[in-house]
Amino acid sequence: MSILRMGYVGCGRMAQRVHIPNIIALDACELVAVAEVCGRLGERVCQRLGIPRLYPSHRELVQDPDIQAVAVSGHFYVQGQIAIDALKAGKDVFMEKPMAVSVEQAERIVAAERASGRRLMVAYMKRYDPGNLAVKRAVEQFTQSGELGEIRYVRNHGFCGDWEAGLDVPEDRTEEKPPPVYSVYPPWLIEEQIRRYLGYLQQYTHNVNLVRWFLDGRSPVRVRAVDLDADNGMRGVVILDVGGVRAVIESGSVAYHGWDEHTQIYFEKGWVRTEAPPLLLRNAPATVEVYNGSRSRKVCSQIFPEGGREWSYKAEMRHFVESVLSGQPFRSPAADALEDARVFEAVYSKHLGIPAVDEPAGESYRAVPAQPETRAGAAGPLTVAPGRRTAGRRRVS
Ligand SMILES: NC(=O)c1ccc[n+]([C@@H]2O[C@H](COP(=O)([O-])OP(=O)(O)OC[C@H]3O[C@@H](n4cnc5c(N)ncnc54)[C@H](O)[C@@H]3O)[C@@H](O)[C@H]2O)c1
Repeated sequence: MSILRMGYVGCGRMAQRVHIPNIIALDACELVAVAEVCGRLGERVCQRLGIPRLYPSHRELVQDPDIQAVAVSGHFYVQGQIAIDALKAGKDVFMEKPMAVSVEQAERIVAAERASGRRLMVAYMKRYDPGNLAVKRAVEQFTQSGELGEIRYVRNHGFCGDWEAGLDVPEDRTEEKPPPVYSVYPPWLIEEQIRRYLGYLQQYTHNVNLVRWFLDGRSPVRVRAVDLDADNGMRGVVILDVGGVRAVIESGSVAYHGWDEHTQIYFEKGWVRTEAPPLLLRNAPATVEVYNGSRSRKVCSQIFPEGGREWSYKAEMRHFVESVLSGQPFRSPAADALEDARVFEAVYSKHLGIPAVDEPAGESYRAVPAQPETRAGAAGPLTVAPGRRTAGRRRVS
């Protein structure tokens, strides 16, 4: 059996609690090295988990000829560039979501992938949840058979809650601070909105991606309406048109010990509905409910999916390893994640009333007349005119 030799970049929370243990547990791969800019943290993790090599940053790790594939969970400010560097060094890449923080960066990642001849997979673990796979199969079957009529509406509701669900995997921490980095962001985005945009993007990229997948990648995806609260830029409702189907993304937060997220795909004569588990709750698949009102005997069934006792994060890493070894396509490839980046810029452009640069033509994307925004910064008040390109890069400590 071939074994994939992997390197891992970043020893933070997701690495220690989720991905590195999953890589170690899989037979078809071997973790030969990690890179961590916080040296003492890297040493502790290598020692505890018996990882043979530690590099001071991803730049050295991607040059290791012994490594075939690189996984990365850096902060979303930095991981896009790390992915590009790994592709350029000839490695296949597994990276945490969001793939990119701007369309421009997403396009650079996809271009780097094409030029390198290697491949990049985005860790959208919901696509690997056995429950979500069963939902997708049911939607496909009903679409093909026509038994429930057409898909008329999709609702995704995501108010979050306790995502860690008591996961008791050990995690080393140190007082070290990673060196400051430059954040990339959409060039039209005014500085005071960057954190809100990133907060919304990093959470709801999962939800938009899942809905697009359930709808079999229908396109184009257009933004019909956006109503997000101005004070946090996250709570509210976004209405998308996903290839002709209205899809509503409800976002917000609630103090909840569980995880408040469901997706319901409405056909004319029934629905397929799923409730998501808390993200880090192991081996608990998303629930699957199918309501069939097409016959005189109405049936509502709950399905426990095949292979249901597998953690979505472990299934996604297995998929990455097996796909790299076999050459099979990824279920969550880079080119598909580029579409998510487009949706998020379009949503925030509409939310702020600032036309995005290179915004696609078409009624659904037309922004309301923009209000110039003013901010008082260290260099005095700054007015950013609608659509004006700002630097597109900012130092983050
Ligand atoms: N899929 C999910 O459910 C999920 C959940 C939480 C977070 N995430 C994603 O995971 C990513 C990482 O999140 P986290 O909470 O683990 O972050 P983190 O900040 O805890 O860890 C990142 C680590 O990377 C290190 N690092 C940064 N640049 C480096 C470089 N050039 N070389 C080597 N090491 C470097 C940092 O020092 C840090 O230790 C984020 O993009 C986030 O969106 C995904």
